[in-house]
Amino acid sequence: MIQPKQKKPEDKENLLDLESRYCSWGDTVHYAKEINIFTRCEGSYLYDEEDTPFLDLQMWYSAATFGYNNPRVKAALLKQVETLPQLACQYLHKEKILLSAKIARGIEKTFQEKGRVHFNVGGASAIEDAMKVVRNHAKKNLVFAFMGSYHGRTLGATSITSSYRYRERFGHFGDRANFIPYPYCFRCHLGMQKETCGMACLRQFEKLFESEYYALVNTKNQHCEFGAFFIEPIQATAGYIIPPKDYFRELKKILDRYKVLLVDDEIQMGFYRSGKLWAIEHFGVVPDVMVFGKALTNGLNPISAIWAKEALISPEVFPPGSTHSTFSSNPLGTATGLEVMRMVEEENFRETVPAKGKYFLDRLKTLKKKYPQVGEVEGLGLAIRIELCQADGFTPNRALTDAIMNIGLSGKLTAGGKRRGLVLDVGGYYKNVFTLAPSLYISEAEMDLATDLFEEALLKGIAQTR
Ligand SMILES: Cc1ncc(COP(=O)(O)O)c(C=O)c1O
Repeated sequence: MIQPKQKKPEDKENLLDLESRYCSWGDTVHYAKEINIFTRCEGSYLYDEEDTPFLDLQMWYSAATFGYNNPRVKAALLKQVETLPQLACQYLHKEKILLSAKIARGIEKTFQEKGRVHFNVGGASAIEDAMKVVRNHAKKNLVFAFMGSYHGRTLGATSITSSYRYRERFGHFGDRANFIPYPYCFRCHLGMQKETCGMACLRQFEKLFESEYYALVNTKNQHCEFGAFFIEPIQATAGYIIPPKDYFRELKKILDRYKVLLVDDEIQMGFYRSGKLWAIEHFGVVPDVMVFGKALTNGLNPISAIWAKEALISPEVFPPGSTHSTFSSNPLGTATGLEVMRMVEEENFRETVPAKGKYFLDRLKTLKKKYPQVGEVEGLGLAIRIELCQADGFTPNRALTDAIMNIGLSGKLTAGGKRRGLVLDVGGYYKNVFTLAPSLYISEAEMDLATDLFEEALLKGIAQTR
């Protein structure tokens, strides 16, 4: 008699069965149709239990910016494990101090502005801390944010994240931000062309301050009801949208007139993703507060942080106990963060990232020439967007985007003569944009392979959705 195949507890089938019964599905795992269980990672690749390599073009939403299993960051983590792996945040350790000093001195050099660094654990928690700094300084709860913004999913961060979908089931958000159109020039909110519009969207925002009847400002004393504007210098989840060069400089002039602070969310774009340490450096403004996380530790033992101008965060105005979390400046996080900061000082990302970005963009733009469904391919450094459209090259094509993502995750691509997968992240206002955030160490050969794998998935996707 043939014995039925014995299920091992760690078989994929068994694990997925357990997952379906015991894991909450309230996170984002089940956005995808193809569910993989990964077992190891190295450089630009994830590997599943059959050791199929998946070339990763999103690197944990840009948290593993310096490559998976980066030996230098890993060594720093292991060293810290051997020395001071644990310490309550109410006591000091040297890595926390050195990391804060490195970040603050770097910002002082770049922006000629003194300030301090305050740690937390995840991106959204640091956004909460930035909101506290703003409220404490401005004595106002209300803020501006952009349509298309994503600042995280704690309740506070959700109130300044534009999608109502994230708020819908969680009650009334009295402090919901006033959402302003982002300069998304490929799909202009006003139906204009960026070459000729004169930044009309910004002029519209400025006009809101003209009369008290536009609901923002008391024109008798110029007091504004809003304490800050939370921005993403390149809108990330919304599809790696790059604003016009002068946009933020002009915006800051308006905000300064009404004493509205500029809070720069660098959580996804910081640490050279855009070719500069801070993406805001491309746009010629000095933010009042900056928020960062993700790549700060290359995704190892996460920490996040804010930097704020001295006047907003000095001990006199932001005294002990203003914010706190048990794991906020844990030593494994600060040690890896310190190593990442040393790495970015010692290596030449300011040149290598723009050069790699140009190479990859040129390769991907060949696809735009060949396929009308590739509507826009743009990028800044290694933050690259590919917008998928119908054959008219403009109408958003979500079905094709989903198909390509799932084809990549199925791990059955063969370009390059070997079975491989492709890891892509979908973003965009219409969920039709691939937001590419490859490792900053990606090689030319890997970018060539990525282009070939993407083309193979695109062709399969077009056939599937025809
Ligand atoms: C720009 C931006 N802000 C905030 C967050 C929230 O960070 P976290 O997921 O670590 O809470 C993210 C996460 O993707 C982000 O991209």
